[in-house]
Amino acid sequence: MKATAQAPSNIAFIKYWGKRDEKLRIPANSSISMNLSNTYTTTTVDFDTSYKVDTFFLEGKRVTGEEALRVFKHLDRLRNLAKMNLRAKVTSSNTFPKASGIASSASGFAALTLAASRAAGLTLNTKDLSILARIGSGSACRSIPDGFVEWKTASDSNKSYAVSLHPPDYWAICDLVAIVGTKTKKVSSSEGHALAESSPFYKTRLQSMPKKIREIKTALKKRDFTKFGEVLEAEAVSMHTVMMTSNPPLFYWLPATLKVMQEVWSLRDRGVECYFTIDAGPNIHVICEFKNAKGIQTALSKVKGVKSVLLNKPAPGARLI
Ligand code: PMV
Repeated sequence: MKATAQAPSNIAFIKYWGKRDEKLRIPANSSISMNLSNTYTTTTVDFDTSYKVDTFFLEGKRVTGEEALRVFKHLDRLRNLAKMNLRAKVTSSNTFPKASGIASSASGFAALTLAASRAAGLTLNTKDLSILARIGSGSACRSIPDGFVEWKTASDSNKSYAVSLHPPDYWAICDLVAIVGTKTKKVSSSEGHALAESSPFYKTRLQSMPKKIREIKTALKKRDFTKFGEVLEAEAVSMHTVMMTSNPPLFYWLPATLKVMQEVWSLRDRGVECYFTIDAGPNIHVICEFKNAKGIQTALSKVKGVKSVLLNKPAPGARLI
């Protein structure tokens, strides 16, 4: 019983930071994202009677400890649903560096959920896959549906899942990811979410979320790139303000992260429209229209400390391959 799935990472324009339910990973606020075409995980799950224990291989290397246990716990959820008890071999690979601000857990748990459910003999719909992926790793639920996505918060686990707002070809925008660091981060996003409440700005941030969601959805609907960019850049700064003012404080930026911000502002001053957003890591995502992508990619590549710049278009969600 074997299946392989591929799932994209996603970049949130309106972000999820802080949980309403810690264990079930129900977010404190809704979020809006786009799936990324060049940063994805491919995962094969093989359930077989010959396996005595679950094993997990990432980039060809056996993974043990907490990281592997999280994967095996997710397999348990699927085994329970499928009412079977076979052990599995999980083999996974990413097209991008792990734990560096590109959400490897999002693409990872989305691909794992789809591959494991199919390998276990289940045929789940997008909603159920999204809920399961969410329990594995919050933002992974947004990597299940296609293109531009909304993940709604809810008081009930069965109501907090992601849906597609627009298909990938809806809008010719892209995400240029400037890689400035590839080291595993000290504080994972799972630990970070729990610290959010300790920031004096967290409540204010949560109060502002419904308005931001409305604004970004309207800008998406109208394909109003200026409004879209202004909202998403301010939103990233708002989330990082909460991170930096939590107790203990979380600073994910590197000097090169700030250098890229300065380049983005300078490009805008010169009439080249682009806006930045940053997740829980030092790498910085620059959002622009396709027509400007090549020029901006070249400009970002020249910034001191930038190792490479990955170009991503809006992408479909998780797929069996
Ligand atoms: O899903 P997690 O636990 O990796 O959290 C993701 C948090 C951010 O990437 C910082 C924001 C987001 O909405 O993607």
